[in-house]
Amino acid sequence: MSTSYTLITGASMGIGEAFARNFADKGHNLVLVARSRQKMEHLAEELCQKSGVKVAVCVQDLSSINASATVYNFCKERYIKIDVLVNCAGLSWAGSFREIPLAKMEEIMMVNMKAMAHLTRLFASDMVEQKKGDIINVASLGGLQGVPGLGLYSATKAFVIALSESLYEELKDQGVNIVVVCPGFIETGFFEHSGHNVKKIRLPLSDVDVVVKAAVRGLKKRKIRVFPTSIDAILVFLQRLLSRKTVVRLAGFFAAVDAD
Ligand SMILES: NC(=O)c1ccc[n+]([C@@H]2O[C@H](COP(=O)([O-])OP(=O)(O)OC[C@H]3O[C@@H](n4cnc5c(N)ncnc54)[C@H](OP(=O)(O)O)[C@@H]3O)[C@@H](O)[C@H]2O)c1
Repeated sequence: MSTSYTLITGASMGIGEAFARNFADKGHNLVLVARSRQKMEHLAEELCQKSGVKVAVCVQDLSSINASATVYNFCKERYIKIDVLVNCAGLSWAGSFREIPLAKMEEIMMVNMKAMAHLTRLFASDMVEQKKGDIINVASLGGLQGVPGLGLYSATKAFVIALSESLYEELKDQGVNIVVVCPGFIETGFFEHSGHNVKKIRLPLSDVDVVVKAAVRGLKKRKIRVFPTSIDAILVFLQRLLSRKTVVRLAGFFAAVDAD
């Protein structure tokens, strides 16, 4: 007999770790997916002790083409049934598009788009069969328009938003709920990892918990997409009033990436 679990990618730190803590608090068993074995093993131990849930650690580099199938088989082999899938793993690269190393481009596209799409495809099929399942996809406000200096990243997040919205409609009568969360700037190691000077960002950074709460609330209310803070909501509303050129220029102004 299989047991129900929540699978979180990018669970080793930042927003993914916050999702893991939140779902463990609510009594969900977890599968943690990322590359950092030690961080996930420490987190797993802590959550098992604190919340009494089962936590499986699946060390995987999601930029490898077979990673999603390996994650899926990891669950099957252990009779782990995924009721909730959180696609949170992601990365960026800050700077002029002309200067991104080609290998970094591949990595960003693999993790942000392909792994997210592959995992959703694999687990959503099982969820439809069970007529039960929730999927949270972590996109970004950056996916709502191009962002100078973060062009590839914003394009991958536009992919996440478009796919999630399509699937919301496709899956809503099959017992499967999907929400895409679009955070603004969140205080994690994300900027340091991408070479984005956080001190230059011209908007306040929010706590990881606002993302988790917005996503969970969005799922409950059957929202198609959610924006975690009121600043995010205002920026989205402003898009209706401003010209597209201004929207893109403003996004670049707020992100303040040196991309000349
Ligand atoms: N921070 C923000 O301001 C912000 C805003 C909007 C959206 N987001 C999105 O939120 C998500 C989480 O970001 P974060 O802020 O928590 O960043 P973070 O602290 O840098 O965490 C990124 C996570 O993704 C995992 N990851 C990266 N590359 C991977 C790979 N090749 N294989 C497997 N896992 C990989 C990392 O784990 P390992 O290094 O252990 O593999 C880590 O757990 C991302 O999708 C990001 O685009 C962030």
